[in-house]
Amino acid sequence: MAQLWGGRFTKETDELAYRFNASISFDKRFYKQDMEGSIAHAKMLGERGILTEQEAERITGAIREILREVEAGELEISDEYEDIHSFVEATLIDRLGDVGKKLHTGRSRNDQVALDMRLYTRQEVLEVDGLLEKLLNVILTIMEENVNTYMPGFTHLQKAQPVTLAHHMGAYFEMFKRDRQRMEDIYRRMNFCPLGSGALAGTTYDLDRQGTAERLGFDGPTLNSMDGVSDRDYLIEFLSALSTVMMHLSRISEEVAIWNSNEYQFVEIDDAYSTGSSIMPQKKNPDIAELVRGKTGRVYGALVSLLTTMKGLPLAYNKDMQEDKELTFDAIDTVKGCLALTAGMLSTMRFCRDRMEESAKNGFTNATDAADYLVNHGVPFRDAHGIVGRIVLSCIERNIAIDDMTLEELKEICPVFEEDFFEAISMETCVNKRLTLGAPGPEAMRRVIALEKEYLGRDWKESLPDWESRL
Ligand code: ARG
Repeated sequence: MAQLWGGRFTKETDELAYRFNASISFDKRFYKQDMEGSIAHAKMLGERGILTEQEAERITGAIREILREVEAGELEISDEYEDIHSFVEATLIDRLGDVGKKLHTGRSRNDQVALDMRLYTRQEVLEVDGLLEKLLNVILTIMEENVNTYMPGFTHLQKAQPVTLAHHMGAYFEMFKRDRQRMEDIYRRMNFCPLGSGALAGTTYDLDRQGTAERLGFDGPTLNSMDGVSDRDYLIEFLSALSTVMMHLSRISEEVAIWNSNEYQFVEIDDAYSTGSSIMPQKKNPDIAELVRGKTGRVYGALVSLLTTMKGLPLAYNKDMQEDKELTFDAIDTVKGCLALTAGMLSTMRFCRDRMEESAKNGFTNATDAADYLVNHGVPFRDAHGIVGRIVLSCIERNIAIDDMTLEELKEICPVFEEDFFEAISMETCVNKRLTLGAPGPEAMRRVIALEKEYLGRDWKESLPDWESRL
């Protein structure tokens, strides 16, 4: 047991209690952020004369060396320490003696862990954003290549009206674009530095909180020390946004699984992203899509878990908050993996365009357009709806499409029909006529694609400061 406290204790912690309490097995994940925070803190202590310049330099130099050794695999972060903060401080004291003991001046593990987790999460927000951006690029490529690929659009999983593959994928583009916007929002709202909050009530030292915040790339310091050590809202927001990402990934996975089914055969998932059966030789299963869909539950679980952990906590720090880490880490890893795999699966997937188009033709997806034809020739819409309904019924009985009816047969049902009706309900017309912005018509689609391209050309991450060079 290696811990930073013990002066007021007369006996050792119970072994099981010690292990129950320790967090090093998972908080070692942010060793780098812990050391970066300590470097910024020590530099500031030196600048403020709370430590001598020389002491500050010795401390920052030693931390840099510890960081280097950890990254090079020369120094192991051993589980004998209570947490990552204890590991760094103990190693520092080992190397520097009394000077090392001065690092923790004006700081508590409460504001330290609040900082570490924020620094770590902030980086992950950027990485998730980057993966979303890659996925959007994959989707946009599919859109550009399929402006004229007809397919049935569904409501209630029933064929409704014809759309194009570009249009269908464009819906997912919008979803993942909003997911990115949520990442940016979260980043901006969370980007304040809690260091200097102390245990809960700030400190008696004249710390330069603004300077430390800037040095670490924050927009400024947090404004209330009790909130600074106990705010986990940003994690809840992040988990909520990650849950939404998973919900979107799960929906597209579900569609891929349906499209890949023997009945649909709209797509063929690449061999690299599907697996076989140990017993049925003919099978090629959409396991990746299914697993992405399945993993959605654990990300939702992390969100509900943290919401529940936080709901009854009095101010300020409570040990319950240590529970913010493991499930958040798991959720981040899960989402990053799922985003990368979905991008890979989609970019290698083969679209069976003929099957899609065939399916759009057989399913009365042009029934609305048939009714619109009558409306354009003076029939009130409600009557037109009834007439086309009767046509569809007779087609179903004869197992044919509306397009297969003869003009004479149509005229028997309603004399308004003329030869130009067939042109009016052809797949091309049905799609091409839908020209309002946001609709599947190729002209509208090309306008949207141009807008999405422009959007992808801008990256909000580029304007962020290069703070690491300031350390
Ligand atoms: N491991 C703790 C956590 O993750 C660090 C803060 C410890 N503070 C304390 N007062 N014990 O929340």
